[in-house]
Amino acid sequence: MRPALSDYRHVASGKVRDIYEIDADTLLLVTSDRISAYDFILDTPIPDKGRILTAASFFWFDELTVPNHLAGGPTDERIPADLVGRSMVVRKLPMVPVECVARGYLTGSGLVDYRATGSVCGVRLAPGLTEADRLPQPIFTPATKADLGDHDENVSFEQVAAQVGDDLARTLRDLTLDIYSRASDLALDRGIILADTKFEFGQAPDGSLVLADEVLTPDSSRYWEAGTWEPGKVQPSFDKQIVRNWLTSDAANWDRHGDVPPPSLPDDVVARTRARYIEAYERISQLSFDDWPDAQNA
Ligand SMILES: Nc1ncnc2c1ncn2[C@@H]1O[C@H](COP(=O)(O)OP(=O)(O)O)[C@@H](O)[C@H]1O
Ligand SMILES: [Mg+2]
Repeated sequence: MRPALSDYRHVASGKVRDIYEIDADTLLLVTSDRISAYDFILDTPIPDKGRILTAASFFWFDELTVPNHLAGGPTDERIPADLVGRSMVVRKLPMVPVECVARGYLTGSGLVDYRATGSVCGVRLAPGLTEADRLPQPIFTPATKADLGDHDENVSFEQVAAQVGDDLARTLRDLTLDIYSRASDLALDRGIILADTKFEFGQAPDGSLVLADEVLTPDSSRYWEAGTWEPGKVQPSFDKQIVRNWLTSDAANWDRHGDVPPPSLPDDVVARTRARYIEAYERISQLSFDDWPDAQNA
């Protein structure tokens, strides 16, 4: 008999995920179907998005063979029946307070920093680079976690070292770049560019690093279609472009720079976005999403 969610203490809710405590050592991470765009959480969920992102994290944890925080499989008996498929049972770990970002391409806040300073997080880059350019080699561009609603702040390697110590900072950087390069090679084999991604690490009792949180999902990563990649302009997002295009279309009649929250998404935009998330998962993992577990009858 599976537990009810009310058996667990609610610990926190992020923009997209809810965290519960199973016991002193174990957490339940539940991924909702909420989607964000232009810094707003939309009021229209994308059905199955939480399951698709959870399937992606499990795929990558399995693929990467680095120590990770999973404490059970996708149908672990500690998961409430209605949340099977969108939940992870994980070891509760002290988290390293650094967002470990790797970038293989120049865009987003990396490009903003580069245009202002010629560097990203203190990493000097060649002059003349443009939007969506591939970097000569992937770079570690850490950030500190901002409070809910704020943007993470890019910091230099030296700032990370001052905060957590030289040895740990170096290990974080090397591990982040190693995982990024393996993941981006795999994605590219399947026609998808992993432009950048963010990892979070916890620490085991012996101090060793444990890959935690979600990994290499479309929410923690920028994925682009490799076949249409074209430096010099903003690349369409593999997963969110349909939503962005609609929100900025005349049909939405919405000012994304104002204070008014975005309008609800039309059904066809929802359906096409759902299909896109599934496509990303299936192309990268070469698994069928039909085989991923669903809520179970209690
Ligand atoms: N194994 C773990 N132990 C403890 N905390 C974790 C673990 N894995 C992830 N977390 C934390 O759980 C939270 C995940 O919630 P999320 O909705 O992603 O929050 P946010 O909006 O801050 O990204 C993050 O604060 C993350 O650092
Ligand atoms: Mg998060």
